[in-house]
Amino acid sequence: MLTVESEIAIDITAPDNPFLRGLFGPVGREITADNLEVEGEIPRDLYGSYLRNGPNPIFQPRGRYHWFDGDGMIHAIHFENGRASYRNRWIRTEGFVAERQARHAIWPGLMDKPDPSAPRGAGSDGWLKDTANTDVVYHNGHALALWYQCGLPYKIDAFTLETLGIETFSGGLKRAVSAHAKVDPQTGELLFFDYSTHAPFLTYNVVSPNGELIHHAPIDVPGPRLPHDMAFTPRYSILMDLPLFWDPELLRRGAHKVTFYPEMQSRFAVLPRMGTNTDVRWFETSACYIYHVVNAWEETNSAGADEIVMDACRVVQPEPSARRADGELARMKAFLRLEAQLCRWRFNLATGAASEELLDDARTEWPTINRARMGRRTRYAYNSCVPHFEGIVKYDVERGSSEKYLFGPGRTANECPFAPRLGARDEDDGYVVAFVADANQPERGEVIILDAKNIGGAPIGRVKIPQRVPVGFHTVWIPGEQMRT
Ligand SMILES: [Fe+2]
Repeated sequence: MLTVESEIAIDITAPDNPFLRGLFGPVGREITADNLEVEGEIPRDLYGSYLRNGPNPIFQPRGRYHWFDGDGMIHAIHFENGRASYRNRWIRTEGFVAERQARHAIWPGLMDKPDPSAPRGAGSDGWLKDTANTDVVYHNGHALALWYQCGLPYKIDAFTLETLGIETFSGGLKRAVSAHAKVDPQTGELLFFDYSTHAPFLTYNVVSPNGELIHHAPIDVPGPRLPHDMAFTPRYSILMDLPLFWDPELLRRGAHKVTFYPEMQSRFAVLPRMGTNTDVRWFETSACYIYHVVNAWEETNSAGADEIVMDACRVVQPEPSARRADGELARMKAFLRLEAQLCRWRFNLATGAASEELLDDARTEWPTINRARMGRRTRYAYNSCVPHFEGIVKYDVERGSSEKYLFGPGRTANECPFAPRLGARDEDDGYVVAFVADANQPERGEVIILDAKNIGGAPIGRVKIPQRVPVGFHTVWIPGEQMRT
């Protein structure tokens, strides 16, 4: 059964912008659909919800639309007893509400110049709309929608997708939350950082399992930085100071030009879970940029020294290859190529030495793992093939092997979470689920269910979504037994 909960007329014409049409084009209906049609089957031990955040703009952009600009919309599929239901809902951010009232776009986008006449915006730039469109995590019984430029965390009912308001962590939130906050599955704590063009340029924060901010520490870095992700182990958190950041000279004059400095080092801050700036130990390796971490854990090496191991996707060429003369669209696409390779960093806590090692030369990104094991040693990662998101690679980092599943011609999906099956024992005992967009059927969505132990095999089930699910960003799998309804 399909219920249209609301319908908003999409008021956009931008025929030359690929991020506003085709598989990226926004949808206007918010629907609920139960008993979805399935080809194959939905395993009865697949129980929980798969939420995916992404941009879904409503109004004609003021300038050149960037894929990151669109209002956040969450698409979710819930599996239970061999059946599936689907919902999609916009995140009712303050910017969403204000523009709906004004009936036009108020804030400029990422490709535009700041507009002093526009109301103050959000993010480190202070002039963009906080769309909450980037990541979604599950903590303290709610989903939190997060934004890549550090924004306000929006609390979402994980089942109905209703926006419940801004999560302030019992009034403790000092500033903002980065896109990639991390939930420690052992303690239930939420760990996050935020960054800003104003001091403190980087902060580190811990939220208790019941939602209170219990730790806040400014971390010294030499200037405004643009870290995107962090890592943690049972005892330590790892923050990043990487040499891709706004040109400081231009920034002083109010211009934001992201620049890569290959002559600088990559720096990793390792600090205890409840540590402050004075506890930080910095580890240095060669210049790089990292969007997404796979996982980190603690090990004792052959010399008996404690080490932190961190697997992450190392960007191959952080400086975009397109020149200004190629035009704005080419530059935007160059920045969005996300070409990265799986790498391992080791931080030796006894000697202070750091090393990095390429684990695979294939281009992959959007890594996911069995999140129940985040912070402890993991063997498997599920990465998307880049730059076209045409398939998924399952890595076995202990054996040094990989296995691939290709979605098929014209089909694409990005971050695909691992969903443990009910009663799972092994790390890869479960499924990988993926919202697949299909150029051959652009007005229909699909969720495929892959057997994580046989990722290269045919999908166990193909669940039909009765409307398009535009290509989006990050995801979360919420085990059914953890969901509060
Ligand atoms: Fe991200």
